[in-house]
Amino acid sequence: AASLPASVEALSLQSTAEKSQFAGCFPTLNPMDIYRQHIAVELSKAADIDAQKIYPRIAWTSTLDKGDLSLPVASLQIKQNPVELAKDLASKFPASDLIHPPTPLGPHIQFFCKPKPLIDNVLGRILKEKSAFGTNGNQGQKDPSDPSKGQKKIIIEFSSPNIAKPFHAGHLRSTIIGGFLANIYTVMGWDVIKMNYLGDWGKQYGLLANGFKDFGNEEALIKDPINHLFDVYVKVNRQVSEQEGPIKELKEQIKAKKEKSEDVAELEAQLAKLVDVSEDEKARRYFKSMEDGDPEALALWRKFRDLSIEKYKQTYARLNIDFDVYSGESQIKSESMTDAYKLMEQAGVSEKSEGAVIVDFTKHGAKKLGKAIIVRKDGTPLYLTRDIGAITERDNDYHFDKMIYVVAAQQDLHLAQLFKVTELMGHKDLASRCQHINFGMVRGMSTRKGTVKFLDDILRDVGDKMHEVMKKNEVKYSQVEDPVKTADILGITSVMVQDMTGKRVNGYDFNLDAMTSFEGDTGPYLQYAHARLCSMARKSELDVNELVNANFDLLTEQHAVDLVRLLAQWPDVLLQTAKTLEPITVLSYLFKMTHMLSSSYDVLKVIGSEPDVKQARMALYASARQVLNNGMRVLGLSPVERM
Ligand code: ARG
Repeated sequence: AASLPASVEALSLQSTAEKSQFAGCFPTLNPMDIYRQHIAVELSKAADIDAQKIYPRIAWTSTLDKGDLSLPVASLQIKQNPVELAKDLASKFPASDLIHPPTPLGPHIQFFCKPKPLIDNVLGRILKEKSAFGTNGNQGQKDPSDPSKGQKKIIIEFSSPNIAKPFHAGHLRSTIIGGFLANIYTVMGWDVIKMNYLGDWGKQYGLLANGFKDFGNEEALIKDPINHLFDVYVKVNRQVSEQEGPIKELKEQIKAKKEKSEDVAELEAQLAKLVDVSEDEKARRYFKSMEDGDPEALALWRKFRDLSIEKYKQTYARLNIDFDVYSGESQIKSESMTDAYKLMEQAGVSEKSEGAVIVDFTKHGAKKLGKAIIVRKDGTPLYLTRDIGAITERDNDYHFDKMIYVVAAQQDLHLAQLFKVTELMGHKDLASRCQHINFGMVRGMSTRKGTVKFLDDILRDVGDKMHEVMKKNEVKYSQVEDPVKTADILGITSVMVQDMTGKRVNGYDFNLDAMTSFEGDTGPYLQYAHARLCSMARKSELDVNELVNANFDLLTEQHAVDLVRLLAQWPDVLLQTAKTLEPITVLSYLFKMTHMLSSSYDVLKVIGSEPDVKQARMALYASARQVLNNGMRVLGLSPVERM
């Protein structure tokens, strides 16, 4: 997220020059705050209402026809019919340089900005602040009035695939959403730690290690660790299931004989032998040696893990993601888990049940959470147990203000149990700092060749598809410097935008044709809008650094004014996104803007206009490009300049 600056300059300005009397009001960062402040102060004077009461109730609007800001007067809790009150307050509002006389509409007052000051302010800012426009570093300050207190810290745990198993759609969504959340918190000024919690421990490593001796190949491992390990894993699993048959059969024979009170000693000896040489049992023993710290066993496991991580890093880089920490189930210290058992026991949370240790949530005011095993009969920990160890370790290691787990909704129960156990153990405060961000399923994710195994397979497919599409326009295609790279980016954009369309909890159907289309609100459409603005700038041959000095008074058309009004909303959209934590909040804003842009091109022509009109319009388009670029980057996309 290094390319995502929080507006530091504006921040320091904020803390010295212009401290607002209103909480959460940052006029140097957010143009709409100037207006909110103005409205609150003026209305307060005119109608004798506490300005502090007005300010937080001034809302942004969903569409421009409803005004730039609106005040639902009922929220002021004044004893008067709201419709009457709206009329009354609107009529009292004094003449203003910044806004038109407000219009009462039912129980609302609508405020429309006067174009000139808005355009000067908004375009001036965007062209100066560039990628920092819209960011708000105050949000992540422990105390915005005292920067020496430092930033708030957040851990975002996401992606978290299982080594040697497929990277499925759930991991893809977690990666996309987690990357987006990391960006949002970064531009809001938080100190963000991106953590990958790998599934890198358990009996399957025993299987894998033994399988590698039979089916593995050093060269193939180095070349493509993820696919090779998966191949090995599939092969040994096949052996395991082949061996299961005869074992099951013998067990049944023994059972039948026992029922007839016949001697089973010989069969039992046979069974023991079969089990002893089975891959499953060998895997169990191997994993036991790993748990016991056998250096040789651990070295092989570490090699698998390290090589896989190297490969994952390359794939994540294509999605503009780099993790700060590769943690994983293997990294959780056994002391952390035993400490947790002790706490649970002391707090009377856990109990013994048939040799295992369990937590019965129904006895602790959480009926829906059922029961969970914490320690198996044989003393080994489970997935949940490691998470319990991990949560306290992370708290001790990082002292975070907040932690987010980005995990599929299938694991809702798991995370609810984790947070509840944490609370019951006496870490109520820790539990309250943690949040599960969940999401629905992707249906039918498959490549053209069959079912998906790994992220790279999907990305290769969408890239190929976009390459085909690009080739259809020969002229443009010939101008693209590195078409394969561009096709790759466009493919990735397609996947990500489809994933971010709609709320997180909703699943969706993976549809290669729909996502790579230029029709409708798709990734390629968004990229096209950006590339078109870049092309316009190139063709205009104007000096970009001079655009800020353009004569904005020449932007008089309604299309121009409306576009600026929309650009002015970007800081509010980001703030709103920091609340919803939904990528769609950003995405639908960007589509709204690109639609408005499309309908502006014919009305606001650049090429062929008078020089100063041309410069002013180019300043407007350059600002739109900047905001589009900022928005795309927050989503984790790489905006292209040509396609
Ligand atoms: N590796 C897990 C899986 O693939 C996801 C891990 C989620 N995070 C956690 N702390 N449990 O299902």
